[in-house]
Amino acid sequence: MKDQNKETKLHSGEIRKLQSSASTRGMTRRSAIGLLGSGGLALMTGVAAVAAGQVAQAGRGRNPQQITALVFDAYGTLFDVFLPVFNRAKEIYGPTYNDLLYETLIQVWRLKQLEYSWLRTLIREYRDFYSCTISSLDFALRSVGIDPDDDPAKRDALASRYLTLDAYPEALEVLTTLKSRGFKLAILSNGSRDMLQQVVVANNMQNVLDEWISVDEVGVFKPDPKVYPLAERELRVPRKQILFVSSNSFDVLGAKNYGLTTAWIRRGGTLPQVATPTPSAIAPSTLFGILRGRQEFQEETTLLPDYVVLPPSATPTEGLRGLLTLPPLEV
Ligand code: 2OP
Repeated sequence: MKDQNKETKLHSGEIRKLQSSASTRGMTRRSAIGLLGSGGLALMTGVAAVAAGQVAQAGRGRNPQQITALVFDAYGTLFDVFLPVFNRAKEIYGPTYNDLLYETLIQVWRLKQLEYSWLRTLIREYRDFYSCTISSLDFALRSVGIDPDDDPAKRDALASRYLTLDAYPEALEVLTTLKSRGFKLAILSNGSRDMLQQVVVANNMQNVLDEWISVDEVGVFKPDPKVYPLAERELRVPRKQILFVSSNSFDVLGAKNYGLTTAWIRRGGTLPQVATPTPSAIAPSTLFGILRGRQEFQEETTLLPDYVVLPPSATPTEGLRGLLTLPPLEV
């Protein structure tokens, strides 16, 4: 147990060390942390490499954190919430609109979907995630000048693409490898029971996952602290043995706040870069990255992820593969 804490602190310590060395080179503390959080990729790579190397040396071969189960976030971590709906929107609404509009549509959709989940949690008016998905799609369509009521069948067709989102290309293989190493595997997601059932089966993951757990069980959305105990309860594994894996920073924060060990998957963008009208304009996916792709509570250091997992190659869709070489998961 002592060793476990040491391992965890070692990683956070390395990040802090980097921050303070940046500040001695003339950066303010805030700008150094900002670089870390905003995807200064070279710097992030450096952090992960240093930290992973040191942890590996200390713990190789003895699973120092006694991790026995991995619990994955679904949307954005296992399943791609951008490219499949971007392509589907183009098929449904056609060439009247350009790629920039479709990119704006899907980025606003995802931002609002999460905001609506938080709003519903705060006002204590739970409706399931598919309901948030539909309302936020209506908002996003209107924001780009499409009235969803003009053709509700089109809106429904686009929303239903969410039920069978494609997994990231490496996801099934990584899950299968982890399963063969003896880990219990589960999803813990905002998705409703029905949404999770459909997306798991559509991606042929039903035999590799032990459970797919919905927040429907507690009637609030992540990062509410009522959500994360579901992982322990449903898997019957104590929290200290669970590694929670998410690409969503707010979700990592929620899991860490509850006391799970966490791995933050850094995927980067998954859309082709869409040309912006003027060189100084910010593409919608860049804005999404700025808002959602960074460490939450950057000024705090108490809720840092235990592991920051970068793609082993330059391909952002390889994001989960880096898990396979994390010391607590090596065999
Ligand atoms: C999920 O719970 C947060 O959307 C994310 O699957």
